Amino acid sequence: MSARKTRDREGGARTPVTLQWAGRTFRPGATIAAREAEPLEIVRGSGVAQRLIEGDALAVLGTLAAEAGTFELAYVDPPYASGADYHVAEAAADGRGQTRRTKAYEDTWREGDGGIGAYLDHLAPRLDGMARLLAKNGTLWVHVDWRANYLLRVILDEIFGPRGFRNEIIWKRAPNLGRQAKSGQFGRTLDTILVYGHADARLVPPLRREPIAASHVRFDEEGQAFTTAPRGDYTDASIARLAEEGRILRSPSGRVYVKYFVAEGPDGTYVRERPVDALWNDIAPLRHRGRAEKTGYPTQKPRELLERVLLAGSTPGGKVLDLFSGSGTTLAAAHALGRAGTGGDRSIVALAHLRARAAREGFPLTISAAEPIARPALAATLRTTKTSATVSVPSGGRLLLAAARNRQGELGNFVTEPSESMRVSTRSATAVLALDEHGACVEFPLPATRPT
Ligand SMILES: C[S@@+](CC[C@H](N)C(=O)[O-])C[C@H]1O[C@@H](n2cnc3c(N)ncnc32)[C@H](O)[C@@H]1O
Repeated sequence: MSARKTRDREGGARTPVTLQWAGRTFRPGATIAAREAEPLEIVRGSGVAQRLIEGDALAVLGTLAAEAGTFELAYVDPPYASGADYHVAEAAADGRGQTRRTKAYEDTWREGDGGIGAYLDHLAPRLDGMARLLAKNGTLWVHVDWRANYLLRVILDEIFGPRGFRNEIIWKRAPNLGRQAKSGQFGRTLDTILVYGHADARLVPPLRREPIAASHVRFDEEGQAFTTAPRGDYTDASIARLAEEGRILRSPSGRVYVKYFVAEGPDGTYVRERPVDALWNDIAPLRHRGRAEKTGYPTQKPRELLERVLLAGSTPGGKVLDLFSGSGTTLAAAHALGRAGTGGDRSIVALAHLRARAAREGFPLTISAAEPIARPALAATLRTTKTSATVSVPSGGRLLLAAARNRQGELGNFVTEPSESMRVSTRSATAVLALDEHGACVEFPLPATRPT
Protein backbone atom coordinates (compact mmCIF):
# COMPACT_ATOMS: atom_id res chain seq x y z
CA MET A 1 0.00 0.00 0.00
CA SER A 2 1.34 3.42 -0.95
CA ALA A 3 1.52 6.02 1.85
CA ARG A 4 0.68 8.99 -0.42
CA LYS A 5 -2.60 10.55 0.67
CA THR A 6 -5.02 12.38 -1.59
CA ARG A 7 -8.21 14.28 -0.80
CA ASP A 8 -11.41 12.75 -2.10
CA ARG A 9 -14.47 14.70 -3.36
CA GLU A 10 -15.97 14.98 0.10
CA GLY A 11 -12.71 16.47 1.39
CA GLY A 12 -11.58 13.47 3.45
CA ALA A 13 -8.11 11.95 3.16
CA ARG A 14 -7.82 8.79 1.09
CA THR A 15 -4.85 6.49 0.90
CA PRO A 16 -4.61 4.72 -2.48
CA VAL A 17 -4.92 0.96 -2.16
CA THR A 18 -3.48 -1.45 -4.71
CA LEU A 19 -4.50 -5.04 -5.15
CA GLN A 20 -1.95 -7.85 -5.17
CA TRP A 21 -2.42 -11.39 -6.48
CA ALA A 22 -0.06 -14.26 -7.10
CA GLY A 23 1.88 -13.69 -10.33
CA ARG A 24 0.40 -10.22 -10.97
CA THR A 25 1.72 -8.85 -14.28
CA PHE A 26 -0.61 -5.86 -14.67
CA ARG A 27 1.09 -2.46 -14.67
CA PRO A 28 -1.09 0.60 -15.38
CA GLY A 29 0.24 2.67 -18.26
CA ALA A 30 2.14 -0.21 -19.93
CA THR A 31 2.71 0.41 -23.64
CA ILE A 32 0.40 -1.31 -26.10
CA ALA A 33 2.15 -1.83 -29.43
CA ALA A 34 0.56 0.20 -32.24
CA ARG A 35 -0.57 -1.77 -35.30
CA GLU A 36 -2.62 -1.35 -38.49
CA ALA A 37 -6.10 -2.83 -38.88
CA GLU A 38 -6.73 -4.65 -42.16
CA PRO A 39 -9.94 -3.46 -43.95
CA LEU A 40 -12.37 -6.35 -44.54
CA GLU A 41 -15.83 -5.21 -45.45
CA ILE A 42 -18.39 -2.43 -45.67
CA VAL A 43 -21.99 -3.15 -44.68
CA ARG A 44 -24.38 -0.60 -46.20
CA GLY A 45 -26.98 1.21 -44.09
CA SER A 46 -28.08 4.68 -43.10
CA GLY A 47 -27.29 6.99 -40.19
CA VAL A 48 -24.02 7.55 -38.33
CA ALA A 49 -21.42 4.97 -39.47
CA GLN A 50 -20.40 2.36 -36.91
CA ARG A 51 -17.04 0.58 -36.92
CA LEU A 52 -16.10 -2.97 -36.00
CA ILE A 53 -12.49 -4.03 -35.49
CA GLU A 54 -12.20 -7.76 -35.05
CA GLY A 55 -9.71 -9.21 -32.60
CA ASP A 56 -8.64 -9.40 -29.00
CA ALA A 57 -9.27 -6.10 -27.23
CA LEU A 58 -5.53 -5.62 -26.70
CA ALA A 59 -4.80 -5.92 -30.42
CA VAL A 60 -7.74 -3.63 -31.24
CA LEU A 61 -6.42 -1.08 -28.74
CA GLY A 62 -3.13 -1.15 -30.67
CA THR A 63 -4.98 -0.11 -33.85
CA LEU A 64 -6.62 2.80 -32.02
CA ALA A 65 -3.42 4.24 -30.52
CA ALA A 66 -3.61 7.36 -32.72
CA GLU A 67 -7.11 8.11 -31.35
CA ALA A 68 -6.02 8.42 -27.71
CA GLY A 69 -7.99 11.10 -25.89
CA THR A 70 -10.87 11.20 -28.41
CA PHE A 71 -13.57 8.86 -27.05
CA GLU A 72 -16.38 10.24 -24.89
CA LEU A 73 -17.36 6.92 -23.42
CA ALA A 74 -16.24 3.30 -23.24
CA TYR A 75 -18.61 0.55 -22.07
CA VAL A 76 -17.48 -3.01 -21.49
CA ASP A 77 -19.49 -6.11 -20.61
CA PRO A 78 -16.58 -8.54 -20.37
CA PRO A 79 -16.56 -12.09 -19.02
CA TYR A 80 -17.57 -11.98 -15.32
CA ALA A 81 -15.31 -14.80 -13.99
CA SER A 82 -18.48 -16.91 -13.89
CA GLY A 83 -16.67 -20.24 -14.33
CA ALA A 84 -18.88 -21.13 -17.31
CA ASP A 85 -18.60 -21.18 -21.07
CA TYR A 86 -21.31 -19.61 -23.24
CA HIS A 87 -22.84 -21.25 -26.29
CA VAL A 88 -25.23 -20.51 -29.10
CA ALA A 89 -27.66 -23.35 -29.61
CA GLU A 90 -28.98 -24.17 -33.04
CA ALA A 91 -32.28 -26.02 -32.73
CA ALA A 92 -32.47 -29.33 -34.62
CA ALA A 93 -29.21 -28.53 -36.34
CA ASP A 94 -28.38 -32.11 -37.17
CA GLY A 95 -31.78 -32.73 -38.78
CA ARG A 96 -32.69 -35.38 -36.18
CA GLY A 97 -33.97 -33.00 -33.53
CA GLN A 98 -30.65 -32.80 -31.71
CA THR A 99 -29.42 -29.39 -30.69
CA ARG A 100 -25.95 -28.47 -31.86
CA ARG A 101 -24.08 -26.13 -29.55
CA THR A 102 -21.17 -23.92 -30.52
CA LYS A 103 -19.04 -22.17 -27.97
CA ALA A 104 -19.30 -18.38 -28.27
CA TYR A 105 -16.72 -17.59 -25.61
CA GLU A 106 -15.10 -18.95 -22.46
CA ASP A 107 -15.27 -17.55 -18.95
CA THR A 108 -13.44 -20.25 -16.97
CA TRP A 109 -10.35 -19.37 -14.97
CA ARG A 110 -9.10 -22.62 -13.44
CA GLU A 111 -7.05 -22.50 -10.25
CA GLY A 112 -4.18 -24.37 -11.95
CA ASP A 113 -4.09 -21.65 -14.64
CA GLY A 114 -4.00 -18.73 -12.21
CA GLY A 115 -7.69 -18.58 -11.22
CA ILE A 116 -9.11 -15.13 -10.50
CA GLY A 117 -5.59 -13.62 -10.73
CA ALA A 118 -5.41 -14.73 -14.38
CA TYR A 119 -8.82 -13.10 -14.94
CA LEU A 120 -7.58 -9.82 -13.48
CA ASP A 121 -4.34 -9.96 -15.46
CA HIS A 122 -6.43 -10.48 -18.59
CA LEU A 123 -8.96 -7.74 -18.01
CA ALA A 124 -6.96 -5.01 -16.25
CA PRO A 125 -4.59 -4.06 -19.12
CA ARG A 126 -7.55 -3.90 -21.50
CA LEU A 127 -9.47 -1.59 -19.16
CA ASP A 128 -6.32 0.49 -18.71
CA GLY A 129 -5.88 0.77 -22.50
CA MET A 130 -9.51 1.87 -22.92
CA ALA A 131 -9.10 4.49 -20.17
CA ARG A 132 -6.26 6.00 -22.18
CA LEU A 133 -8.44 6.36 -25.27
CA LEU A 134 -10.91 8.50 -23.35
CA ALA A 135 -11.11 12.29 -23.63
CA LYS A 136 -10.58 14.43 -20.51
CA ASN A 137 -14.35 14.31 -19.95
CA GLY A 138 -14.62 10.62 -20.85
CA THR A 139 -16.06 7.81 -18.73
CA LEU A 140 -15.47 4.06 -18.60
CA TRP A 141 -18.44 1.84 -17.71
CA VAL A 142 -17.55 -1.70 -16.58
CA HIS A 143 -20.51 -4.09 -16.40
CA VAL A 144 -19.85 -7.11 -14.16
CA ASP A 145 -21.49 -8.82 -11.18
CA TRP A 146 -20.82 -9.90 -7.59
CA ARG A 147 -18.02 -12.25 -8.62
CA ALA A 148 -15.44 -9.59 -9.53
CA ASN A 149 -16.96 -6.14 -8.92
CA TYR A 150 -15.20 -5.70 -5.56
CA LEU A 151 -11.82 -6.48 -7.14
CA LEU A 152 -12.33 -4.36 -10.23
CA ARG A 153 -13.18 -1.30 -8.15
CA VAL A 154 -9.72 -1.42 -6.60
CA ILE A 155 -8.11 -1.89 -10.01
CA LEU A 156 -10.14 0.95 -11.53
CA ASP A 157 -9.16 3.18 -8.59
CA GLU A 158 -5.56 2.42 -9.52
CA ILE A 159 -6.13 3.16 -13.23
CA PHE A 160 -8.12 6.38 -12.77
CA GLY A 161 -6.67 7.56 -9.46
CA PRO A 162 -8.71 8.06 -6.29
CA ARG A 163 -10.86 10.79 -7.82
CA GLY A 164 -11.96 8.74 -10.80
CA PHE A 165 -14.89 6.92 -9.19
CA ARG A 166 -18.28 8.22 -10.32
CA ASN A 167 -20.91 5.56 -9.66
CA GLU A 168 -21.67 2.00 -8.80
CA ILE A 169 -24.89 1.36 -10.70
CA ILE A 170 -27.03 -1.59 -9.75
CA TRP A 171 -29.07 -3.05 -12.58
CA LYS A 172 -31.77 -5.52 -11.56
CA ARG A 173 -31.36 -7.97 -14.40
CA ALA A 174 -33.72 -10.75 -13.32
CA PRO A 175 -36.74 -11.36 -11.10
CA ASN A 176 -36.13 -13.21 -7.84
CA LEU A 177 -37.50 -16.55 -8.99
CA GLY A 178 -36.62 -20.25 -9.08
CA ARG A 179 -33.21 -21.35 -7.86
CA GLN A 180 -32.19 -17.83 -6.81
CA ALA A 181 -35.26 -17.37 -4.61
CA LYS A 182 -34.69 -20.72 -2.86
CA SER A 183 -30.93 -20.45 -2.41
CA GLY A 184 -30.90 -19.77 1.35
CA GLN A 185 -29.61 -16.24 0.74
CA PHE A 186 -30.91 -13.11 -0.96
CA GLY A 187 -31.35 -13.71 -4.67
CA ARG A 188 -28.33 -12.65 -6.75
CA THR A 189 -30.45 -10.90 -9.32
CA LEU A 190 -28.24 -7.85 -9.80
CA ASP A 191 -25.42 -6.74 -12.07
CA THR A 192 -23.06 -3.90 -11.21
CA ILE A 193 -21.90 -1.21 -13.62
CA LEU A 194 -18.83 0.60 -12.27
CA VAL A 195 -18.43 4.07 -13.73
CA TYR A 196 -15.08 5.85 -13.65
CA GLY A 197 -14.14 9.11 -15.31
CA HIS A 198 -11.28 11.46 -16.03
CA ALA A 199 -11.05 14.90 -14.42
CA ASP A 200 -13.70 16.72 -16.48
CA ALA A 201 -16.23 13.88 -16.65
CA ARG A 202 -19.82 14.94 -15.92
CA LEU A 203 -22.70 12.54 -16.37
CA VAL A 204 -26.11 13.77 -17.43
CA PRO A 205 -28.58 11.26 -15.99
CA PRO A 206 -31.73 11.14 -18.14
CA LEU A 207 -35.17 11.66 -16.60
CA ARG A 208 -37.54 8.82 -15.85
CA ARG A 209 -41.22 8.89 -14.97
CA GLU A 210 -42.08 7.69 -11.48
CA PRO A 211 -45.66 7.11 -10.26
CA ILE A 212 -46.93 9.38 -7.47
CA ALA A 213 -49.72 8.25 -5.12
CA ALA A 214 -52.87 10.33 -5.74
CA SER A 215 -53.01 11.13 -1.99
CA HIS A 216 -49.70 13.09 -2.35
CA VAL A 217 -50.95 15.24 -5.21
CA ARG A 218 -52.19 18.82 -4.60
CA PHE A 219 -53.36 21.53 -6.98
CA ASP A 220 -52.33 25.17 -7.26
CA GLU A 221 -54.58 28.15 -8.13
CA GLU A 222 -54.22 27.39 -11.85
CA GLY A 223 -55.30 23.80 -11.26
CA GLN A 224 -51.80 22.46 -11.96
CA ALA A 225 -51.06 19.21 -10.11
CA PHE A 226 -47.95 19.14 -7.91
CA THR A 227 -46.33 17.28 -5.07
CA THR A 228 -43.85 18.63 -2.50
CA ALA A 229 -40.66 17.56 -0.75
CA PRO A 230 -38.66 19.20 2.08
CA ARG A 231 -35.88 21.54 0.87
CA GLY A 232 -33.21 18.90 1.59
CA ASP A 233 -29.72 20.18 0.76
CA TYR A 234 -30.82 23.06 -1.53
CA THR A 235 -28.80 26.21 -0.76
CA ASP A 236 -30.50 29.56 0.04
CA ALA A 237 -29.50 30.77 -3.45
CA SER A 238 -31.19 27.76 -5.07
CA ILE A 239 -34.31 28.26 -2.96
CA ALA A 240 -34.43 31.91 -4.09
CA ARG A 241 -34.16 30.81 -7.74
CA LEU A 242 -36.90 28.20 -7.28
CA ALA A 243 -39.10 30.82 -5.56
CA GLU A 244 -38.80 33.00 -8.69
CA GLU A 245 -40.01 30.01 -10.73
CA GLY A 246 -43.03 29.64 -8.42
CA ARG A 247 -41.73 26.34 -7.07
CA ILE A 248 -41.53 27.13 -3.34
CA LEU A 249 -44.30 26.52 -0.83
CA ARG A 250 -44.02 27.82 2.76
CA SER A 251 -46.01 26.21 5.56
CA PRO A 252 -47.80 28.46 8.08
CA SER A 253 -44.85 27.83 10.43
CA GLY A 254 -42.42 29.07 7.73
CA ARG A 255 -41.04 25.68 6.68
CA VAL A 256 -39.83 25.55 3.08
CA TYR A 257 -41.02 22.88 0.66
CA VAL A 258 -40.05 22.47 -2.98
CA LYS A 259 -42.92 21.98 -5.45
CA TYR A 260 -42.59 19.35 -8.18
CA PHE A 261 -45.17 19.52 -10.93
CA VAL A 262 -46.65 16.17 -11.91
CA ALA A 263 -48.40 14.97 -15.03
CA GLU A 264 -51.63 13.00 -15.20
CA GLY A 265 -51.49 9.84 -17.29
CA PRO A 266 -54.39 8.68 -19.49
CA ASP A 267 -55.41 6.16 -16.79
CA GLY A 268 -55.79 8.91 -14.16
CA THR A 269 -52.54 8.10 -12.31
CA TYR A 270 -49.92 10.79 -11.64
CA VAL A 271 -46.26 10.64 -12.62
CA ARG A 272 -43.27 12.80 -11.85
CA GLU A 273 -40.09 13.09 -13.87
CA ARG A 274 -36.95 12.60 -11.82
CA PRO A 275 -33.32 12.17 -12.87
CA VAL A 276 -32.37 8.48 -12.87
CA ASP A 277 -30.33 7.48 -9.79
CA ALA A 278 -27.84 4.61 -9.44
CA LEU A 279 -30.55 1.98 -8.85
CA TRP A 280 -31.78 0.75 -12.23
CA ASN A 281 -34.72 -1.50 -11.54
CA ASP A 282 -36.80 -0.29 -14.47
CA ILE A 283 -35.03 -1.91 -17.43
CA ALA A 284 -36.41 -5.34 -18.18
CA PRO A 285 -34.01 -8.18 -19.04
CA LEU A 286 -33.65 -9.42 -22.59
CA ARG A 287 -35.89 -12.41 -22.01
CA HIS A 288 -38.85 -10.05 -21.56
CA ARG A 289 -38.22 -8.28 -24.86
CA GLY A 290 -39.73 -8.85 -28.28
CA ARG A 291 -38.30 -11.26 -30.86
CA ALA A 292 -37.06 -8.40 -33.02
CA GLU A 293 -34.47 -7.41 -30.43
CA LYS A 294 -33.11 -10.88 -29.66
CA THR A 295 -30.06 -11.92 -31.66
CA GLY A 296 -29.61 -15.39 -30.13
CA TYR A 297 -26.23 -14.42 -28.62
CA PRO A 298 -26.03 -15.91 -25.11
CA THR A 299 -25.23 -12.85 -22.96
CA GLN A 300 -26.86 -10.11 -25.04
CA LYS A 301 -27.92 -7.06 -23.01
CA PRO A 302 -31.10 -5.03 -23.64
CA ARG A 303 -30.61 -2.08 -25.95
CA GLU A 304 -32.52 0.16 -23.54
CA LEU A 305 -29.76 -0.39 -20.98
CA LEU A 306 -27.06 0.77 -23.39
CA GLU A 307 -29.20 3.69 -24.54
CA ARG A 308 -29.38 4.91 -20.95
CA VAL A 309 -25.58 4.58 -20.61
CA LEU A 310 -24.94 6.45 -23.85
CA LEU A 311 -27.47 9.18 -23.11
CA ALA A 312 -25.85 9.87 -19.74
CA GLY A 313 -22.23 9.78 -20.86
CA SER A 314 -22.00 10.85 -24.52
CA THR A 315 -23.25 13.52 -26.90
CA PRO A 316 -24.75 13.26 -30.41
CA GLY A 317 -21.98 12.49 -32.91
CA GLY A 318 -19.54 11.64 -30.06
CA LYS A 319 -17.26 8.60 -30.19
CA VAL A 320 -18.11 5.58 -28.03
CA LEU A 321 -16.19 2.33 -27.60
CA ASP A 322 -16.99 -1.30 -26.68
CA LEU A 323 -14.20 -3.81 -27.29
CA PHE A 324 -16.18 -6.73 -25.77
CA SER A 325 -19.11 -6.15 -28.12
CA GLY A 326 -20.72 -9.61 -28.29
CA SER A 327 -23.83 -9.20 -30.45
CA GLY A 328 -23.22 -5.45 -30.79
CA THR A 329 -25.73 -3.91 -28.38
CA THR A 330 -23.53 -0.84 -27.84
CA LEU A 331 -23.23 -0.25 -31.58
CA ALA A 332 -26.99 -0.70 -32.01
CA ALA A 333 -27.63 1.87 -29.26
CA ALA A 334 -24.98 4.18 -30.74
CA HIS A 335 -26.71 3.96 -34.10
CA ALA A 336 -30.13 4.65 -32.58
CA LEU A 337 -28.80 7.72 -30.73
CA GLY A 338 -26.52 9.08 -33.46
CA ARG A 339 -23.21 8.30 -31.74
CA ALA A 340 -20.16 7.00 -33.64
CA GLY A 341 -19.52 3.56 -32.15
CA THR A 342 -16.35 1.47 -32.36
CA GLY A 343 -16.79 -2.17 -31.40
CA GLY A 344 -14.55 -5.20 -31.22
CA ASP A 345 -14.68 -8.84 -30.21
CA ARG A 346 -12.47 -11.87 -30.63
CA SER A 347 -15.19 -14.50 -30.96
CA ILE A 348 -16.14 -15.48 -34.50
CA VAL A 349 -19.61 -16.37 -33.19
CA ALA A 350 -20.07 -12.90 -31.69
CA LEU A 351 -18.81 -11.28 -34.89
CA ALA A 352 -21.32 -13.28 -36.97
CA HIS A 353 -24.18 -12.10 -34.76
CA LEU A 354 -22.96 -8.52 -34.88
CA ARG A 355 -22.68 -8.50 -38.69
CA ALA A 356 -26.18 -9.92 -39.05
CA ARG A 357 -27.52 -7.41 -36.53
CA ALA A 358 -26.03 -4.45 -38.40
CA ALA A 359 -27.71 -5.70 -41.58
CA ARG A 360 -31.05 -6.31 -39.84
CA GLU A 361 -31.12 -2.97 -38.01
CA GLY A 362 -29.74 -1.09 -41.02
CA PHE A 363 -26.66 0.48 -39.49
CA PRO A 364 -23.72 1.18 -41.76
CA LEU A 365 -20.72 -0.77 -40.51
CA THR A 366 -17.12 -0.77 -41.63
CA ILE A 367 -15.34 -3.95 -40.61
CA SER A 368 -11.60 -4.41 -40.27
CA ALA A 369 -9.36 -6.86 -38.44
CA ALA A 370 -6.73 -6.12 -35.83
CA GLU A 371 -5.63 -9.75 -35.99
CA PRO A 372 -6.79 -12.58 -38.24
CA ILE A 373 -9.74 -14.59 -36.91
CA ALA A 374 -10.29 -17.91 -38.68
CA ARG A 375 -13.64 -18.07 -40.49
CA PRO A 376 -14.69 -21.69 -40.87
CA ALA A 377 -15.91 -22.64 -44.38
CA LEU A 378 -19.68 -22.92 -44.73
CA ALA A 379 -21.07 -25.88 -46.67
CA ALA A 380 -23.76 -24.24 -48.81
CA THR A 381 -25.06 -24.30 -52.38
CA LEU A 382 -26.17 -21.48 -54.65
CA ARG A 383 -28.88 -21.31 -57.31
CA THR A 384 -29.16 -18.16 -59.38
CA THR A 385 -31.58 -16.45 -61.74
CA LYS A 386 -30.93 -13.19 -63.54
CA THR A 387 -32.11 -11.13 -60.57
CA SER A 388 -31.77 -13.32 -57.50
CA ALA A 389 -29.65 -15.96 -55.84
CA THR A 390 -30.71 -18.58 -53.31
CA VAL A 391 -28.20 -19.92 -50.82
CA SER A 392 -29.05 -23.18 -49.03
CA VAL A 393 -27.33 -25.15 -46.30
CA PRO A 394 -27.80 -28.90 -45.74
CA SER A 395 -30.88 -29.95 -43.81
CA GLY A 396 -30.70 -28.93 -40.16
CA GLY A 397 -28.30 -26.04 -40.77
CA ARG A 398 -29.33 -22.43 -40.31
CA LEU A 399 -28.14 -19.30 -42.05
CA LEU A 400 -27.95 -16.03 -40.15
CA LEU A 401 -27.27 -13.71 -43.05
CA ALA A 402 -27.15 -13.61 -46.84
CA ALA A 403 -26.16 -10.52 -48.78
CA ALA A 404 -25.16 -9.32 -52.23
CA ARG A 405 -21.82 -7.62 -52.81
CA ASN A 406 -21.80 -4.71 -55.27
CA ARG A 407 -19.00 -3.58 -57.60
CA GLN A 408 -17.63 -1.27 -54.88
CA GLY A 409 -17.24 -4.30 -52.61
CA GLU A 410 -20.04 -3.21 -50.25
CA LEU A 411 -22.64 -5.61 -48.86
CA GLY A 412 -26.36 -4.86 -49.27
CA ASN A 413 -29.75 -6.46 -50.09
CA PHE A 414 -29.61 -8.37 -46.84
CA VAL A 415 -31.78 -11.25 -45.72
CA THR A 416 -31.47 -11.87 -41.98
CA GLU A 417 -34.43 -13.98 -40.83
CA PRO A 418 -32.57 -17.18 -39.86
CA SER A 419 -33.50 -20.18 -42.01
CA GLU A 420 -32.09 -23.09 -44.06
CA SER A 421 -32.15 -21.08 -47.30
CA MET A 422 -32.15 -17.41 -48.14
CA ARG A 423 -32.90 -15.60 -51.40
CA VAL A 424 -31.25 -12.26 -52.12
CA SER A 425 -31.82 -9.85 -54.93
CA THR A 426 -28.66 -9.68 -57.06
CA ARG A 427 -29.15 -6.92 -59.68
CA SER A 428 -25.65 -5.52 -60.35
CA ALA A 429 -24.15 -7.83 -57.69
CA THR A 430 -20.75 -9.41 -58.17
CA ALA A 431 -20.95 -11.96 -55.35
CA VAL A 432 -23.22 -13.42 -52.69
CA LEU A 433 -22.09 -13.87 -49.10
CA ALA A 434 -23.71 -16.21 -46.58
CA LEU A 435 -23.00 -16.69 -42.91
CA ASP A 436 -24.29 -19.06 -40.24
CA GLU A 437 -24.58 -18.43 -36.52
CA HIS A 438 -21.35 -20.27 -35.78
CA GLY A 439 -19.46 -17.73 -37.88
CA ALA A 440 -18.96 -20.13 -40.81
CA CYS A 441 -18.94 -18.13 -44.02
CA VAL A 442 -18.93 -18.60 -47.79
CA GLU A 443 -18.77 -16.13 -50.65
CA PHE A 444 -20.00 -17.17 -54.12
CA PRO A 445 -18.73 -15.06 -57.04
CA LEU A 446 -21.51 -14.42 -59.58
CA PRO A 447 -20.91 -14.75 -63.32
CA ALA A 448 -21.39 -11.50 -65.28
CA THR A 449 -24.28 -13.04 -67.23
CA ARG A 450 -26.67 -15.22 -65.27
CA PRO A 451 -29.46 -17.60 -66.29
CA THR A 452 -32.92 -16.17 -66.86
C1 LIG B 1 -20.76 -10.73 -21.96
S1 LIG B 1 -20.33 -10.83 -23.63
C2 LIG B 1 -20.82 -9.27 -24.28
C3 LIG B 1 -22.27 -9.24 -24.62
C4 LIG B 1 -22.70 -7.92 -25.24
N1 LIG B 1 -22.71 -6.87 -24.25
C5 LIG B 1 -24.05 -8.02 -25.90
O1 LIG B 1 -24.98 -7.27 -25.54
O2 LIG B 1 -24.20 -8.86 -26.79
C6 LIG B 1 -18.59 -10.72 -23.54
C7 LIG B 1 -17.89 -10.71 -24.89
O3 LIG B 1 -16.51 -10.44 -24.68
C8 LIG B 1 -15.78 -11.15 -25.67
N2 LIG B 1 -14.40 -11.25 -25.20
C9 LIG B 1 -13.91 -11.95 -24.15
N3 LIG B 1 -12.60 -11.73 -23.99
C10 LIG B 1 -12.23 -10.86 -24.98
C11 LIG B 1 -11.01 -10.22 -25.34
N4 LIG B 1 -9.88 -10.43 -24.66
N5 LIG B 1 -11.01 -9.38 -26.40
C12 LIG B 1 -12.16 -9.15 -27.11
N6 LIG B 1 -13.35 -9.72 -26.81
C13 LIG B 1 -13.39 -10.55 -25.75
C14 LIG B 1 -16.50 -12.47 -25.81
O4 LIG B 1 -16.23 -13.07 -27.04
C15 LIG B 1 -17.96 -12.03 -25.64
O5 LIG B 1 -18.55 -11.83 -26.89
